[in-house]
Amino acid sequence: MTPNFSFGYSTLIDLLPENLSYLVLEDEYPSLQYPIVNRKLQHSVAPFTAEVEKDLLNAIEKQKPDVLIFSIVQYISGLMIDLNFIKEIKSTYPNLLIIADGTQYLGTEPFNFETSGIDALGGSGYKWLLSGFGNGFMMLSDDFKSWLEELRLDIPLPQVAMWKDKSLLDTFFEPGHQDTLSHGTLQQGLMFLENLGLDNIKEHVTNVKNEAYELLLERDLILPYIAEREVKSSLINVQINPELYPNLINSGIKCFPRGTGIRIGIHLYNDLRDIQNFVNIIESIR
Ligand SMILES: Cc1ncc(COP(=O)(O)O)c(C=O)c1O
Repeated sequence: MTPNFSFGYSTLIDLLPENLSYLVLEDEYPSLQYPIVNRKLQHSVAPFTAEVEKDLLNAIEKQKPDVLIFSIVQYISGLMIDLNFIKEIKSTYPNLLIIADGTQYLGTEPFNFETSGIDALGGSGYKWLLSGFGNGFMMLSDDFKSWLEELRLDIPLPQVAMWKDKSLLDTFFEPGHQDTLSHGTLQQGLMFLENLGLDNIKEHVTNVKNEAYELLLERDLILPYIAEREVKSSLINVQINPELYPNLINSGIKCFPRGTGIRIGIHLYNDLRDIQNFVNIIESIR
């Protein structure tokens, strides 16, 4: 458990050997990209197009990075990386470490970390997991965990009584007291989602987001490279002037200006009426 995604991720990066090379996507969430930059780690940047999976594959073949890092759903455009592609990449390049950020994705549909091909997946709980601030997590595959531990076999485990139950990795990821209220909120969020059933959540969200994409595509309000893609996320960057943000907020729409538009998220508490209402409001202000 970690206080947020960024803490878990930068802790993980610090555990990796310094000579690894990274491949990162253009315009990636700063908490993902900047820890590579400020630690002066060797990295290359893959371009960002409708064919992002092809671009990543080309970059992997050409640059032969040791580590691929990406967020499953991109924070500006809402583009979702095809998770089947990630599985294929892992089976073609088993030695490529895959580190992903699930903050904008986990909680919108069922997801199996063990079969995902991802070595490390972190997230903050305050978005789609409905858990408020102050909680996050970093999941590590068994193989990756063992490798990280093997790199540190020469380090003695803590001997003091207070830390006797900590694993070596715990001493990095959970070095101090945790906010139990906040982590408890994450637990409640997960129980709530599980009780509803992630299959049901997916069905509902898909229904509502399909309506949103249809109405927004009709009005040419979806980024062209998102419109072209088969896989579409619940995070939508609506191509209206970001200066209209205060008008939307005053109309009761929770949204955020990002890039060239205004970003909305469609989750289990939304319904088709919300989408119609949203489209009517846009029509009246743009
Ligand atoms: C892709 C992505 N990752 C992570 C986060 C949140 O990370 P943190 O809570 O560490 O700031 C966000 C928040 O916008 C995000 O969009």
